[in-house]
Amino acid sequence: MKNIVLIGFMGTGKTSTGRLLAGRLNRTFIDIDKKIETQTGLAISEIFQLYGENHFRQLERDVIFRVSRYHNTVIATGGGVVLKQENMIRLKSTGIIIALTASLETILERTSRRGVRPLLDCEDRAERVAKLFSDRANLYMKADYTIDTTCLPPHHVAEKIIGLLREGRHLRGRSKS
Ligand code: S3P
Repeated sequence: MKNIVLIGFMGTGKTSTGRLLAGRLNRTFIDIDKKIETQTGLAISEIFQLYGENHFRQLERDVIFRVSRYHNTVIATGGGVVLKQENMIRLKSTGIIIALTASLETILERTSRRGVRPLLDCEDRAERVAKLFSDRANLYMKADYTIDTTCLPPHHVAEKIIGLLREGRHLRGRSKS
């Protein structure tokens, strides 16, 4: 079976939803940022601080290329994975792409913890979020499906994804409830 790949802006719930979805479908869960952290022994914020964003994007690309060879997994990506077209081509070759979205207010609230997301560690977070969001909106829209998570907790989002995939005949059999 194809992978299920979650893309979307920071704070849209990719990791929590992905973990729950993988549990429901009995699949392996892969979190790209976690893989980069395990591989380097550094937190994402440390990689940005020590080596810069370009280096992080290269590490991200390498992990994407590796995990795109897998099948039957659930993959949660980092928000910037859409910035490299080659990432999306790889992920799409073996996966169904699902974009999670949320309102800007919700994103700001969900990403308010400092020191975790280097791109949002700045004076005017609202301005930065709005700018990054509008720069990337078209890229997220290329997904096969889009789900607005503003008013939905992750387990409802996971349910919705299962429903959509069944309708589209991307899933077989029954999932655990
Ligand atoms: C990033 C999102 C982060 C992480 C890194 C860069 C981005 O992941 O990959 O800080 O460019 O949007 P989350 O979307 O899981 O926060």
